[in-house]
Amino acid sequence: MSLTPDWAKLRADFPILNQQVHGKSLVYFDNAATSQKPRSVIDALVHYYEHDNANVHRGIHELSNRATNAFEAARTRTAKFLNARSGDEIIWTRGTTEAINLVAATWGSKHLKAGDVILLTEVEHHSNLVPWQLIAQKTGAKIAYIPVTGDEGTLDLSKLDSLLTSQVKLLSLVHISNSMGTVNPVAELCAKARKLGIVTLVDGAQSAGHLPVDVQAIGCDFFAFSGHKICGPTGVGALYGRYEVLETMPPYQGGGEMILSVGYQKTEFKHAPHRFEAGTPDISGPIGLHVAMDYLDAIGRDNIWKHDQELANYAYEKLSALKNIRLFGPKQNRAGLVSFLLKDVHAHDVVEFANTAGVALRGGHHCTQPLMHKLGVESTARASFYFYNTKAEVDVFVEVIKGIQKFFT
Ligand code: ALA
Repeated sequence: MSLTPDWAKLRADFPILNQQVHGKSLVYFDNAATSQKPRSVIDALVHYYEHDNANVHRGIHELSNRATNAFEAARTRTAKFLNARSGDEIIWTRGTTEAINLVAATWGSKHLKAGDVILLTEVEHHSNLVPWQLIAQKTGAKIAYIPVTGDEGTLDLSKLDSLLTSQVKLLSLVHISNSMGTVNPVAELCAKARKLGIVTLVDGAQSAGHLPVDVQAIGCDFFAFSGHKICGPTGVGALYGRYEVLETMPPYQGGGEMILSVGYQKTEFKHAPHRFEAGTPDISGPIGLHVAMDYLDAIGRDNIWKHDQELANYAYEKLSALKNIRLFGPKQNRAGLVSFLLKDVHAHDVVEFANTAGVALRGGHHCTQPLMHKLGVESTARASFYFYNTKAEVDVFVEVIKGIQKFFT
């Protein structure tokens, strides 16, 4: 494990956190939706636009060379961040959602046919449900689900062997649930799937910036994450794809940059990853993300994980002591968030009330509507943490929740 970081010093790197909201110090507990950005990431974006802005892979002038080098260096850095074998296994996307859509559209259109099964879990975010429904409609494939146990949000793996039939062609599952905080045993499941020749995708939106990720150790064929949830800019994310699998896939979108040669009737495409990147990409995004990845790894994602889990356990224990509260997610090995419902108070009222006290929460179905229906609720309120959050902030949050309970009774 890396040396213990100076958390207070790190927090000072985030200018946005130092502000008052409705006359109270901001408590930002909506990190699962998006993280805040350190000064170094903001500076990298400004520096790029002030000094190096040019299109990539097209020019041979100085600015274009600088932009291209920085853009490709970010790709190599992302490979290191995930322990992929090389930058050729990293495709830039707008985020996790686009990464999963890319796999569904290209891998799915090539490899799925009527009668095949796509295996998902009942805790998936809409971004790991809807793209599969779209490709299932086109190909005639069916979707099956690994069930969830209940409010704990863990997977019921007793059904797994019977679900892993010879029709299953793909297993796609979330690493950390955004609405429950469950950490799924992705390495175990991917190993089982690989033995059966099933292709695997891991949705790493909530994990990539929170714990060390090694795609080779997980053994997945695809891994998707978003830059904005890991201290990087919005609008950029990445798809890791095992090169052997990427090379079987047709292009995603057509246009400039993804071609070797174009004729009026026929086009030859580049190899991965450039085959999947048509048009001028987001250039500043990867450059900012590079700095964010350096920043996180200087802290140590093992340290971040320990810190986030400690805060979540602390919040969970304090909330558990309250009456008339329903808590979701696992009691053990909880990721850095707590989802809950107060009796007779709508989650949106919790969030609005908390907002007046300067506390930023999220309330709603968290883009996991089928899971909410299964648990018999419409929504939950959620506090999600990152390494710049503190126990003192959790104390403020819990007092606010107590105040809400008093107000509504
Ligand atoms: N998926 C993000 C969240 O959970 C937006 O808030």
